[in-house]
Amino acid sequence: MKKLHIIGNWKMSLNRKDSLSLAKNICSINFNDHLNLEVAPTSLYISEIINILKDSNVNVISQNFDFESLGSFTGGICLDQMKELGVNKTILGHSERRSKFNESDEQINNKLKTILNSDFDVVYCFDSPEQIPFELIKNNLNDNSDLKLTIAYEPTWAIGTGKTASIEHIEEIHTKVKSNLKEIMLENIPILYGGSVNPTNSNEILNTNNVDGVLVGGASTKFDQLTGIVNSI
Ligand code: 13P
Repeated sequence: MKKLHIIGNWKMSLNRKDSLSLAKNICSINFNDHLNLEVAPTSLYISEIINILKDSNVNVISQNFDFESLGSFTGGICLDQMKELGVNKTILGHSERRSKFNESDEQINNKLKTILNSDFDVVYCFDSPEQIPFELIKNNLNDNSDLKLTIAYEPTWAIGTGKTASIEHIEEIHTKVKSNLKEIMLENIPILYGGSVNPTNSNEILNTNNVDGVLVGGASTKFDQLTGIVNSI
């Protein structure tokens, strides 16, 4: 049985009380070794969430980072600060960072290069396969461990809209990316799908060819829906 990944991206959707309460509930979710379950809370509460989930198998990751090391960057967060809190993985290049925070492909690729050369793991999000910098990945992914890099296909039009991509479309894009990864000998990199995943469609999506997991927004912030997705495997 292949390993599947479910990552809950809580975005900026929950206040402190609801974040902590959701984390406490998540401690009670049972799942086996074939599932890697991770949550990405807002960085403001990440320490508290890590503390709540410390005895569970749920890993806490970051939604973004700005720089590698400390410096004069008002409002920024860096990898070294996260490391102090025990965080070792982050999402990068989410379409909301691209569209709402104006992060360019160039900025995101620079950050990808930084993180591939660090001891952090990364979930790199893309909206169209042309965005993926395969050459940069090939030249910088020295540590070819399974989870150093995860790639997530998130069509912008499917994010938070309730409109999920069709299974055929998901399979087509994932298969294309998988074959590109094969060309650079990195076919083991997991490719996740994100965009209006919910307990009703998750089983079919997770059973699609070349889909290794899901990156879930809205449904991951509601305990019953997150449990429904986990139980749909
Ligand atoms: P929704 O699941 O709310 O569509 O969000 C997807 C997403 O952006 C996950 O990163």
